[in-house]
Amino acid sequence: MKNITADELRELYLGFFKSKGHAVIPGASVIPENDPTVLFTTAGMHPLVPYLMGAMEHPAGTRLTDVQKCIRTGDIDAVGDPAHLTFFEMLGNWSLNDYFKKEAITWSYEFLTTKLGFSPDQLSVTVFRGEGKEGEDGYIPADEEAVEIWKGLGIPDERIYRLPREDNWWGPAGTTGPCGPDTEMFIDTGKEKCGPDCRPGCHCGKYIEIWNDVFMQYNKTEDGKFVPLGRHNVDTGMGVERTVCMMSGAPTVYDTEIFAPIMEAIDALRGTGNGDMAAGLDADEILRARRIIADHMRTATFILCDPKGSVKPGNVGANYVLRRLIRRAVRYARMLGIGEGFTVKLAETVCEKYKHVYPELAENLAQCRLDLVAEEKRFNATLDKGEAMYKKVSEQLKAHSQTKISGKTAFKLYDTFGFPLEMTIEMAKKDSLEVDVKGFEEANRKHQELSRTTSAGSFKAGLQDNSEVVTRMHTATHLLHAALHQVLGPTANQKGSNITAERLRFDFTWPEPMTAEQKAEVEKLVNSWIEEGIEVEKKTTSVEEAKAEGAMALFGAKYGEMVTLYSIGGVSKEICCGPHVSNTKELGGFKILKEQSSSAGVRRIKAVITNM
Ligand code: ALA
Repeated sequence: MKNITADELRELYLGFFKSKGHAVIPGASVIPENDPTVLFTTAGMHPLVPYLMGAMEHPAGTRLTDVQKCIRTGDIDAVGDPAHLTFFEMLGNWSLNDYFKKEAITWSYEFLTTKLGFSPDQLSVTVFRGEGKEGEDGYIPADEEAVEIWKGLGIPDERIYRLPREDNWWGPAGTTGPCGPDTEMFIDTGKEKCGPDCRPGCHCGKYIEIWNDVFMQYNKTEDGKFVPLGRHNVDTGMGVERTVCMMSGAPTVYDTEIFAPIMEAIDALRGTGNGDMAAGLDADEILRARRIIADHMRTATFILCDPKGSVKPGNVGANYVLRRLIRRAVRYARMLGIGEGFTVKLAETVCEKYKHVYPELAENLAQCRLDLVAEEKRFNATLDKGEAMYKKVSEQLKAHSQTKISGKTAFKLYDTFGFPLEMTIEMAKKDSLEVDVKGFEEANRKHQELSRTTSAGSFKAGLQDNSEVVTRMHTATHLLHAALHQVLGPTANQKGSNITAERLRFDFTWPEPMTAEQKAEVEKLVNSWIEEGIEVEKKTTSVEEAKAEGAMALFGAKYGEMVTLYSIGGVSKEICCGPHVSNTKELGGFKILKEQSSSAGVRRIKAVITNM
């Protein structure tokens, strides 16, 4: 294993595949072209779909290699831990109905062992174990061919793991298109197994995934079936950041040369703001804030400097994701005492680090600066108002020799001005004040969010995490409503709904307690729709048309002539003002906490989602 930089790794990889007859092609934009199934390019395959499907021939031939900028924000809340990133570069080699498993696996092995210098003993691999029964509908055989190839290369059977679809099948989440079984390569770090079930894919840190070879032999159709594609494609993916981290022996991706200048810039900016609120933060909290700022500003810079230039901070879809990235960075920067203007400084640092690989960064930096300045200013103004309010409150308390900030005030700071609770606590600490955390939680619970009259897509100024959770819960409520209709029938109609950042509550007409089976069935259905990653669509239409389409409308509710109709695939159609998430995947998972009586003939369900 040798210690290499991202620049060296890209060059080594592309050079290796060039020597195997591949054409080096440029990566695509992070903003997908004509692909409504994703907000951002999440993998190298998106721009190549027409070629993988065989709809057209790629001008560069049938063997391609590239580096693709990818953005995945599904786990945005996990950013700050040692491993999660919202932006990463993916190295890939492609066979468009050219070579197949034998060559792909053999070259992966050769690159890992001879170019990167991993020892064959460090390698463990996983392969698809198949599903269904031969002769029956939906049967897909186990990938014994991949097993044999790995054995032929000297990987012993005990280091070849046969795993189900969850682990060893790749296709863009929840959408139609080319997909197939894959074989994943893991480096064994030599740590002890965390338990008897520890294996590649376990997150304890013993096995680190380094590469994925996907054998795209199938097409997922609209009805969720996998039909043979009639082509044998290869799509592989190796993450640049993770590989550089592993090879350099850095403890986390944030400790690699890739992040070094960004981290240094963040540290240099500390103290430029109004006091360092980090005084009371512990080392872990500071580390987390630095990582969040670094990750989010790197991603935001790549989005704003994208040649397409079509994504700007806003309230819907990709624009909203970008806004959320920038605003989270601003909030954490404030906590570290970093002052206004830092987003531009960090964008410049990112540009400097990457412009030789991605010239668009330098080309579009001027526009990126303007967009960042405007968004940072806007959000800082909101946060400033919050600070002024805090100051007034704290002075009043002191004047009356009181020491506690009420839960209501802390909640207002959170809900209206975007102050996370921990930020208020930090400020209070400095003034020797306490915060009524219980009262805050109580106020949060009571908070009636998103009445059905809120206009679609209009978030409160602060865009705090609170309303994001509520939005997810709101979509979960639609799924729950649809599931109740499927399990109990069309008479299980909505009587009331109430959502807080802690839980959703849903009242519906039903004469008796639900059975355990019914509850389990409803939960299962909702979770299967979340898992499927269904797009949520919104359109404006007349009430008549919406009802003719079979939309659910609240009995007795008054609607204007034109209404907003939200559709979740074929699962749910409801007249509603929103807002909603754009894909059910964002909910994470769904769990019923309680099913109880609400009033005569009305039952009440309290439920939560995983992604809170
Ligand atoms: N498209 C595959 C992945 O993202 C290689 O893992």
